[in-house]
Amino acid sequence: MMDFDFTMLQQIGYIASAILFIYGLKMLSSESSAAKGNMVSSFGMLLAILVTLIDVINPVLMLSAILVGGSIGAIFALRVKMTSIPEMVALFNGFGGLSSYFLAWSEFNNQTEISLVMTLTYLTIFIGGITFSGSLIAFFKLSEVLKNTSNFVNSASRWMLIFGCSFALLCILQIVLNVSGLLILEMDLIRIIFVCFLIASLITGLAFVLPIGGGDMPVVISLLNSLSGIAAALAGIIITNTALIVAGCLVGASGLVLTLIMAKSMNRTLYNIFFVGYAASGSSDAEIEGEIKPITAEDAFLVIEAARSVLIVPGYGMAVAQAQHVVKELGDLLENNDCEVSYGIHPVAGRMPGHMNVLLAEANVSYDNLLEPKDINPKMDIVDVAIVIGANDVVNPSATEQPGSPIYGMPILEVYKAKTVMVLKRSMSSGFAGVQNPLFFKENSRMLFGDAKESISKLVAEFKE
Ligand code: TAP
Repeated sequence: MMDFDFTMLQQIGYIASAILFIYGLKMLSSESSAAKGNMVSSFGMLLAILVTLIDVINPVLMLSAILVGGSIGAIFALRVKMTSIPEMVALFNGFGGLSSYFLAWSEFNNQTEISLVMTLTYLTIFIGGITFSGSLIAFFKLSEVLKNTSNFVNSASRWMLIFGCSFALLCILQIVLNVSGLLILEMDLIRIIFVCFLIASLITGLAFVLPIGGGDMPVVISLLNSLSGIAAALAGIIITNTALIVAGCLVGASGLVLTLIMAKSMNRTLYNIFFVGYAASGSSDAEIEGEIKPITAEDAFLVIEAARSVLIVPGYGMAVAQAQHVVKELGDLLENNDCEVSYGIHPVAGRMPGHMNVLLAEANVSYDNLLEPKDINPKMDIVDVAIVIGANDVVNPSATEQPGSPIYGMPILEVYKAKTVMVLKRSMSSGFAGVQNPLFFKENSRMLFGDAKESISKLVAEFKE
């Protein structure tokens, strides 16, 4: 009987899974096909796992690990609140980095002599380690456990970063010199250096993300996502696994593209984000002039009922309140009242890229009504009422008016230029960047305090009466 070529079958499986990854990724580019795209890519990953099992030494152990890991992941994903998805994504990125870190570590232990593969092993551990510890910090920052770390850790962490990167370069150089015969170190000494390297990579990740705060976090999260992919691709090269290389390259490249898009829309260079920070100079403690003018839902209704053009600006608070459906209902009622309604969408509103687009799409708001800051800002002075729903940092005029503010330089939706601004939030507490917002004290601002969904429901009820 002819021998069946399992390796060939495995390679065909890997190619099929790569096609599914790419096709799924393509489908993510449109909101209508995104959910299906996710399924297609997941199926690609399942296929990759199944064909990998063909030649593993201990499939039972593998399957048990997949079962335990898969169950934990599924339980987390099922239980997580919609507003905590960004934290979960940060954590998943981190675990992706950690698995590449462990994989490279175990490969190092299998190596008996110094070789060029070791260079890749070091690189994988370095990038995987940074991704893991950096993502943990991102997780704690997103869940608001760690706040305002930017200033007090700034200089310490800069030194830790310089130390970590220099040490990594020296270690990699040492391997290259060893392989080329210019330096002879014993394997025992290499192992000691390696243990220090394992720790240095984790410290570098902490030092990298700790000082980054406020408006820069979205860019950092995209970069960490990209790094987790690069680490996986390098790990794939070490163990010669095609699926891991392809999946890693796709995550690495798409994460990098997203990082560049986010940085561009925040009007920032990557150098500025990672090595300078927003509040590099000046002070952020400026006195805010003006007073808060609360408004009741009944009075707010009279204002918006008379408006001929309304701009709705959603932010993180709309996601917390899950107010997107009543927001759409209010938008429809306004349109029926001969009012022109549009939605101002800031690229970093909420806690993940496209957060507001996803929520509004879920409520069937037409994509054509969503305007970016560059489209709506020049026309802001002809907007009768800007309704700010749980947004704070993305409408904070300090970003344009107050040098030294932690968000100075970040483009915003300039709602303060509208004839009237109606801000819906529960209290006077600050947004993600932790800074007070002078918008709330402006002459043309009115504060409608309360949960966004309840406040909008009251406005809707007034319209229906
Ligand atoms: P934030 O500045 O975080 O402000 C959200 C506001 O919503 C808060 O001031 C809060 O005030 C209010 N709020 C919370 N729950 C509410 C509820 N149930 N009803 C009504 N209001 C509620 O949000 P933003 O303007 O969307 O800005 C996003 C921030 O997150 C930016 O700094 C951005 O850099 C950062 N970030 C974004 C991302 C991405 S990729 N989008 C990722 C990480 C970080 P009260 O507590 O007083 O109600």
